[in-house]
Amino acid sequence: MKNKSYISTVVANWKMHNDFNAALDLVIKIFSYCNMVKNVEKIICPPVVNIIPLYDQFKNSTFSLGAQNINENSKGSFTGEISVNMLKNYISHAIIGHSERRVIFNESNHTISLKAKALLDNKIVPIICVGEPIDVYKKNKSVDFINNQLFEIFSEIQLNSEIVIAYEPIWSIGNKNPADPIYVEKIITKSKDFLCTLKHLRNTNLKFLYGGSVSSKNVLDYTNQKNIDGVLVGSASLDASEFGKIVLQISKNG
Ligand code: PGA
Repeated sequence: MKNKSYISTVVANWKMHNDFNAALDLVIKIFSYCNMVKNVEKIICPPVVNIIPLYDQFKNSTFSLGAQNINENSKGSFTGEISVNMLKNYISHAIIGHSERRVIFNESNHTISLKAKALLDNKIVPIICVGEPIDVYKKNKSVDFINNQLFEIFSEIQLNSEIVIAYEPIWSIGNKNPADPIYVEKIITKSKDFLCTLKHLRNTNLKFLYGGSVSSKNVLDYTNQKNIDGVLVGSASLDASEFGKIVLQISKNG
């Protein structure tokens, strides 16, 4: 067990799964497994249509609600998009820059930087995803790649508030091929050091999570590392008992 001065964070990213009834059912089951856990920060990010209908369930729970994405503009002619303003009364966090959004929807570091700014302006904590593709990993260029992502995302943000960064190597997502915890610790340590060199971030409360095929079997291998402050969970967060085990194990050990 590591001696932490803060509590670990677990984020559930449900992606495009669960209509309202299934989402409600899953929330009730997850709460029955681990709503009593107070020494782990727990954030569930359902599809956006379920955020407001689920809000009442979360109000008296130990869980927080988050979004999976937001638009960087406050309003306007952006068909199909949702602004922070529309969600800010219901969420405390929002994932931005997930690799699925970068790859499928062509989001750039610049767009992600604007999204982070829009969230911070509204006092919502951004969960900023970074991570390298397999070819970069194989060439041993991950540190440079991630530092560049961080540099471009953070160059325009002036702040001294809370930010979460999720390191998710693209090759480890959704395929039962989790990254080696020692490798993740190395990348996160270097990323933290790099961000400390950006002067305007000195007072920022930065947490670093790992994401990519996290399960109840491997979660402690990550959270027991010195610089890994929690996990972002995709597929395993759709199974209440599995997600409950992840939270309970961190609560006891990580
Ligand atoms: P996974 O997804 O846990 O299913 O690998 C993680 C993510 O995409 O955030």
